[in-house]
Formats: sequence, structure tokens, C-alpha cells
Amino acid sequence: MAINIALGQQLPRTYKAPEFDLEWRKPTDHPDRIVLSYGEDPATSASVTWRTTSEIDTAYAEIAIATAAPKFWRNAKTIKAITTRFDALGIDGAEVLSNHHSVWFTDLKSDTTYAYRVGDGKRWSEWIQFKTAPKESKDKFSFLYVGDTQNFILELWSRLIRESYKKAPDAKFIVHAGDLVNNAHNEQQWQEWFDAGGWIHASIGAFPIPGNHEYQNLGPEASERSLSVQWKHQFTLPENGPEGLEETAYYMDYQNMRIIGLNSNVDHGKQAKWVEKLLSETDKDWIIVTFHHPLFSASDGRDNKEWREVMKPIFDTYGVDLVLQGHDHSYARGRVSPDENVLDGVNLRDKTGTVYVVSVSGGKMYGLRKNAWEGYDAERDRAAENTQLFQVISIEDNRLSFESYTAVGELYDAFELIKRTGLPNEFIDRSDKAIAERRFYNTIPYEDPLPEGVEQSLLSKYPGFELKGVRFVNDKEFTGYKVRLDKGEERKELSLDVNGKILD
Ligand SMILES: [Fe+2]
Ligand SMILES: [Fe+2]
Repeated sequence: MAINIALGQQLPRTYKAPEFDLEWRKPTDHPDRIVLSYGEDPATSASVTWRTTSEIDTAYAEIAIATAAPKFWRNAKTIKAITTRFDALGIDGAEVLSNHHSVWFTDLKSDTTYAYRVGDGKRWSEWIQFKTAPKESKDKFSFLYVGDTQNFILELWSRLIRESYKKAPDAKFIVHAGDLVNNAHNEQQWQEWFDAGGWIHASIGAFPIPGNHEYQNLGPEASERSLSVQWKHQFTLPENGPEGLEETAYYMDYQNMRIIGLNSNVDHGKQAKWVEKLLSETDKDWIIVTFHHPLFSASDGRDNKEWREVMKPIFDTYGVDLVLQGHDHSYARGRVSPDENVLDGVNLRDKTGTVYVVSVSGGKMYGLRKNAWEGYDAERDRAAENTQLFQVISIEDNRLSFESYTAVGELYDAFELIKRTGLPNEFIDRSDKAIAERRFYNTIPYEDPLPEGVEQSLLSKYPGFELKGVRFVNDKEFTGYKVRLDKGEERKELSLDVNGKILD
């Protein structure tokens, strides 16, 4: 194709996804994908899971109280692993045969630094350290929360999770609010997830719950979507969830906090009963709930009405403090009223009910809902577009501090909640210390920029349409722009030449 480029015209730099050889994601006899998690009681229990080739069918973990003297291993205990065969050779995108090994460490001493390693008796990982939770303590502890990892995982999530470790090296665990990968069964994407986090996954307990992208058909003939075939092999999580949802819905009590992970993809009614029981029986000071599909959508054209109608009354009744969500590939944080009568028409900013947050950590970005949370009985206080974020949440006795940071470590949002007897939490906005709000219009364009004037001429040619996607392509077959225009359900996909002229 002949390209007629105006003199001096700069073509946009094109994105080309990095290529990965098949070999890159294959297991070896040496342990990889090592991931730590906690049990229901992180003062006394933890789990570790790892992967090898299917040749390694007997595996062990060793654990000892860590000391500065290098031969702390003299006191180590050896525990035989449970090994599961992961035969996904016939599954599109997975095409792997491997063994996964897991061990539960139980009867641990609270508030103690342990070192563990995993292997087959000859080949071993390094000794990896973690600390158990103190028992019954109200001392300060912190954890991390990230939204959808999902896209450009190795390319762009790596910097985010490493920055989060720099900001909160003492974080006790990481909440992953679903959509860890884009294609549920895709081995390469899981390899990216494990590579990007590296030893952070092995050192800070993972608290992952599945998003819609962890569910996908197992093949073209499958009639329904299945949970990522890797999920149960590669994570070892508390099996205290509702029957049939083990390791996708579960909870943990960390010091004076109960954190509940829900699987918003399936069985809403069953989980409603379960979560209500958990909330009614706990005497923990702080209640945090995490799941993927937000009760109040951050982005346009999305609404999880049925899920909201099932869960919100329960969260209101039991005064859930904080809800951590994903799915919308943007940032939104706000509050609801704990009880309509308390408000009595006063200033909306005094609403001090449950705080809801949506966040995104990977590289895929959506636009924010046009009218904030209008139409929901909630107020959105702070939002972002086009920004990779992680959150550090700290709890000390009756105070919870929430800080959201960008991928380069700038404070983006902050607030505190203070527990008050018989009253809703006091809410203190600390976002005055944060950087200015970020949107598509004041950040590096997410879509490839069209030549000047082309957007206006497209929109006048197609009245009522909105420009939804622009991708500059420069390869053997085509050089020019692929453009998407939407008007409600109607969609136009156009090819333009480098000057923006529509090609038929
Ligand atoms: Fe997502
Ligand atoms: Fe999602």
C-alpha cells in the first residue's frame, strides 16, 4: 500500500505486544510460582504453593523460626507436600502439564518471623521469610489492595507491585480484587503474574478472589464458563467458604479485623447467607469485604444491580467499614449513608457509612461514569482515569488509614476512619495532601492520537456517535488508524489512512 505522509508529519509510536516463547512459561524441576497465603488464623497458620514439572511427584517444605545466625535451619521441620497433577494439555491457552505442591504450616507461634523453603529434597528454593500475626493485638498493621492486574501484566504491573513493596515493605498481605489475568486459563498470563510479583508473592501473603476474567469457557464446545483451571492448583487458601465456593470465597481474621473475600461471579444468594452469618457472629472491630464487581460502578455502561441489591442491605445492617473492588479499570471512592434517618437532609458530605472503593493496577483503562454516582444512594468523593494505582491500608486500634498511590509512588487519595461507640465511623478526608485529580484529558493519551481536526470531522459525519477507541497500526498489511465509534448499541469500525481519511 502506498503511504502518502505529509512532510514533517510525525506518526504515532505504535504498541507492539512483547512476544514470549513457549519455553518461557514451562515448568522446570526447580520450584517456581511460589506463593504464600494465610489460613483463617494468620497468627498460627500459613500456606505455600509452588510448581514443578510433572516429573517431581514428591515434594517438601521446610520451616524454621528465622534467626540472624545462618544455620537457623538446624531447627527446621520438614513437611511433605500435597502434590496435584495439573494436566491442561488439552485446554486452549493452557497447554501445560505440571505438578503443583502445597503445604499448610500449622501451630505456628504468633508474632514470629519464620523462614521456609520448598523443593523435592535435592532442589530447593531460597529460604523465604514471613511473619505470623500477633494474637489479639490492636497494634498497627498494614496491607495492600490492588484492583485488576489483568492486562500488560509483566510489562506494567511489575513496576506497580514493586513500587507498592517499596511504599509498604511491612505489608502483611495483598488483596487482589479479581481479574488477575485477562484469559482465565492462559498459562502465559499466569506466568506474567508470577514473574511480575516474583518473591513478593512468596513473602507477603496473597488474598486473591476471582473476577469475571477468571471464568472462561474451557473450549469452543463448552456451554458455560469455568473457573481458571490454574486457580485451585496454584493457590492454597482458607477452605472456610460456602460449600462449592471454597478458595474463591473465604475469610481471615487478622488481629482486630475480619476480611471477607466474595466470589461475585456466582451463587449470590448462597454467599449472602454466608456473609450475614460471618458478620453477625464476629466481634472484630473492623470489617472489610472484597470482591470484584462493584456495588457502585465507576465506569460508564456498567451496573451490577442484582449483586448490589443482594449485598448492600447486609453491609448496611452490619456496618461494614470498607469495601474493596475492581472490574471498572478506573478509580472511584465514596460513601453511603448508614441510615437515611440519621442524615435528615443535612449536608451530603457528612455521610459516614460504608466506604466503597474501585481501583485498577494493570495497564487497561476505562473512562469514568459521566455523572459520578448519581442515581446510587452514595456519593463519590474522589476518582481517577488513566492511572495505575495501589492502596496501603493500615489499622491501629480504632483508626483505619487508607492511602492510594500511583504507580510512581505519588499520594493520590487518603482518608481515615475512626471507630466511635454507637455511631457511624468518623470520616476524615486526607485527600488535600494528594496530587491533582487525573483524567484522560490531563494525562498522556491512552488512545493513539488522531491527526488534528480528524476527530471533529468524524463526529460531524456521524452525528450522535462518540469516539471510543483509536489504534494506530503500522505493519506489513496496513498503516493507518483503526477507529471505533459508538452511539448507544450502534457501533462503527473504521479504517483511516495516516492522514485520517476514511478508507472503504
Ligand atoms: Fe477487569
Ligand atoms: Fe472484571
